[in-house]
Amino acid sequence: MSRRWRTEVVVFVILAAAAYAADDRNPLAGDAKAAKAGEYEFRINCALCHGLGAHGGGRGPDLTRAVKKHTHSDADMFQVISNGIPGTAMPANGTNGQGVGMTDEEIWQIITYIRSQEVKAPAKPLGNAVHGKDLFYGDANCSLCHMVEGKGGRLGPDLTAVGGSRTREAMIDSVRDPSRRLAWGLTEATKEFPHEYESVTAVTADGKEIKGVTLNEDSFSVQIMDSNEQIHLLKKDKLRSFQKSRQSAMPKYDADVLSDKDLEDIVAYLISVGAK
Ligand code: HEC
Ligand code: HEC
Repeated sequence: MSRRWRTEVVVFVILAAAAYAADDRNPLAGDAKAAKAGEYEFRINCALCHGLGAHGGGRGPDLTRAVKKHTHSDADMFQVISNGIPGTAMPANGTNGQGVGMTDEEIWQIITYIRSQEVKAPAKPLGNAVHGKDLFYGDANCSLCHMVEGKGGRLGPDLTAVGGSRTREAMIDSVRDPSRRLAWGLTEATKEFPHEYESVTAVTADGKEIKGVTLNEDSFSVQIMDSNEQIHLLKKDKLRSFQKSRQSAMPKYDADVLSDKDLEDIVAYLISVGAK
């Protein structure tokens, strides 16, 4: 191969890659074959969090919503899928332990697929967000354990972003049956093992019982927040007993404690905050 020819090939490849990456618009928009390929990629790389059909799962938002939070144009979406969203569970391309990640073309295919799944008109909020906020900070006692926009308790996860990253159904499920799926720490994307809100009971050498949720844990020590928001750092080999449970520290709210309508109002409030 002559040197000149080789240089041209390299330049061509770089230009072809740049043509995909630098476009503001999806070069594969509306292409049914690309959408099909994208659906396959989505199932492997994204459905784990965003659910099958992109309808949202336990860990990622519904991507079929016409109005999204971070991504308006195709270029925004390309950027988010390539680089992730810092401080959230949304990973950068190639950081999921799945080889080297997707090519630019595969990312555009996924975007074509997501666009093909979008609903045309946004869902109407079902509940009354203003009443939901009153309940959250009042009768329903949610704010004893949860913070929203800097106000509230800290035993449970901060719910400021939950309305933007969980489906309505997933939020309702968390309230009706908290232990079925324990929340993951949303801001712990950099940890190899995402932190789950497990409940713990530790008994110290002098017989003191500490109940709460784990904040951090390794082989030797554990950090526990108790229901008074006191943080205890304990050495495991100094404890008389240490037990974890998958029973949520959140009480189960049955319909006789919190009606479907009131819960719908609270969810509408969380969605209104999460959409900001
Ligand atoms: C480990 C879980 C996880 C995986 C895997 C994941 N995501 Fe996400 N993604 C999230 C979370 C959480 C958010 C919301 C972040 C926030 O706003 O708090 C998000 C946000 C997004 C958004 C922005 C939505 C908006 O409202 O603007 C897009 C687009 C997106 N993800 C696409 C993808 C695609 C495509 C894949 C696969 C290539 C993928 N995600 C893989 C968790 C994940
Ligand atoms: C006694 C403390 C406590 C109260 C009161 C409480 N929660 Fe929770 N909540 C928690 C804890 C701890 C978790 C994490 C474990 C889990 O997922 O169940 C949690 C998890 C959640 C989640 C899942 C969050 C996620 O990231 O998936 C939602 C949604 C939620 N709570 C909503 C509410 C609402 C709405 C109320 C009021 C009706 C409420 N909680 C009352 C402690 C509480």
